[in-house]
Amino acid sequence: MEKPITERLEPTETGLARAAEILRDGGRVAFPTETVYGLGADATNGTAVAGIYAAKGRPSFNPLIAHVADADMAKRYVVWSDLADRVAGAFWPGPLTLVLPLRPDCGISELVTAGLDTLAVRVPAHPLAQDLLRMVGVPLAAPSANPSGRISPTTPAHVLAGLDGEIEAVLMGGACEVGVESTILGLAGDPVLLRPGGLPAEALEAMLGRPLATGGDADAPSAPGQLLSHYAPAAGMRLNATEARAGELLLGFGPVAGDMTLSAAGDLHEAAANLFGHLHALDAQSANRGAGVIAVAPIPETGLGRAINDRLRRAAAPRG
Ligand code: TXA
Ligand code: MG
Repeated sequence: MEKPITERLEPTETGLARAAEILRDGGRVAFPTETVYGLGADATNGTAVAGIYAAKGRPSFNPLIAHVADADMAKRYVVWSDLADRVAGAFWPGPLTLVLPLRPDCGISELVTAGLDTLAVRVPAHPLAQDLLRMVGVPLAAPSANPSGRISPTTPAHVLAGLDGEIEAVLMGGACEVGVESTILGLAGDPVLLRPGGLPAEALEAMLGRPLATGGDADAPSAPGQLLSHYAPAAGMRLNATEARAGELLLGFGPVAGDMTLSAAGDLHEAAANLFGHLHALDAQSANRGAGVIAVAPIPETGLGRAINDRLRRAAAPRG
């Protein structure tokens, strides 16, 4: 794929309108939040979200945060609760992300949730992020706007140092005030601190009136399957398969045509966008037919293929 020329967009009405246009067309725009610069793409467009991973060179698909303009917009995508309402009322907009049950069929790409049935949502406080989210009208998936393995950017210069020529545009706001990523609070069950961040845990504990359990480091699972929230199909998995054995369903790629195919053209972007959706669909079919295994065609270990293979290996890892 051709490398884009990265547009520098001024923080004006015109710049914002252009950013929104690029995002609606499936492009990637780095934009300021109060924590760090995010690399945004339309969270309802799987191919656009795959573009985030391609630009970052991220070797694995972690679930991403969906950024929304306000709590009302969040409620379209997650199942809201009284507790969510109290916490959001106290701390949104701001450096706090809430993990809540995903609303089925709400349109969020499965590449954002990494196939999970929960979604991380956040309402950033930065005025440019607020304006952009209102203008674009769709939730934006946005990890920090840096190449994988590099530190998070807090100025447009940091973003450009890492991603110039890899993304469609940067919205040139100033330096970020908070400088560390948002605090992540799990509210899909008992409240749990999933990541310490820009909002001190003490502030959350004061409002909840009790100490918070911690849920380990969501960013750094040290072994496959250790990340609490890994999607794994109920069916078994067999990787690097060129044909289905008796009773197996085949997930194809390129020359290997399957019951479903990630990308007949061998396009890794298309494959990434289809990955979790196809796995879910084959898992459901396999449950219906009593077939126990999903066989998966070989995926090249290059570009987005590394992230796809990482996810497939995790999904295939022995279950504890
Ligand atoms: O401050 C921030 O949060 C920045 C700015 C750009 O908003 N964004 C950010 O995104 O830090 P990212 O993708 O680097 O961090 C996402 C984190 C990961 O640690 C991921 O594991 C966790 O959120 N996460 C996302 N969805 C989750 C879910 N459904 N369950 C548990 N953890 C989730
Ligand atoms: Mg990051």
